[in-house]
Amino acid sequence: MRKSQLELKGKTVLVTAGPTQEPLDPIRFISNRSSGKMGYAVALAALKFGAKVILISGPTHLSSPQGVNLVRIVTARELREAVLKHFPKADVVVAAAAVADYRPESKAARKIRKEGRRELTIRLVRNPDILRELGKTKGDKILVGFAAETGQMITNAREKLKKKNLDLIVANDVTKKGSGFEVDTNIVSIISRDGKIISLPKLSKTRVAERILREAVKIIKNTERTT
Ligand code: C5P
Repeated sequence: MRKSQLELKGKTVLVTAGPTQEPLDPIRFISNRSSGKMGYAVALAALKFGAKVILISGPTHLSSPQGVNLVRIVTARELREAVLKHFPKADVVVAAAAVADYRPESKAARKIRKEGRRELTIRLVRNPDILRELGKTKGDKILVGFAAETGQMITNAREKLKKKNLDLIVANDVTKKGSGFEVDTNIVSIISRDGKIISLPKLSKTRVAERILREAVKIIKNTERTT
């Protein structure tokens, strides 16, 4: 193993992964197309770099990675609770979860029936922005966000980095072939606070995860050098 791969030894990395599911009734939910693959790849890469890993995951078809502390959640509010519980221990947080921005205002106690209805209106309310909340009290923790975009990728990602007070944001254009949901590859740009952009070619999610962590290690080293 290369020496650089143990550069997170003694550090704790908190990763969020997968989608959240927001229930409408006991049978149905609102969710999104996240497979969890990118977040799980980050968790495994962090383990390889020698870190202690806490993986907080929404429902996925992926098997539980050996050696990580896996915490399962379903809704955005459960994700928030789990993240806030583990955040104090973390040195690096990588938020790869695709959190549903909205949830149904209430969950029906029984199945919503179609009989006698031509239309159904569901009122949605905003979910908390977990990463933005973390950004407000981050101290010297390294916060990494993702920005899955369908246009204006760099501009939107930069805006999110600022708004959420992140150290790095990983932007991908999910309309590109070989990028985004479900596939095993990704085409990303890693943008840092100082405006530096690293645009990577199509790589496996494992390689992308390693590149992201390597950038996080650089920031940790710079901080340690100057304090
Ligand atoms: O949804 P959005 O594009 O704003 O996501 C950007 C980043 O913020 C992602 O890293 C995502 O995991 C995180 N996020 C979050 N809580 C939300 C929405 C997004 O932590 N409610």
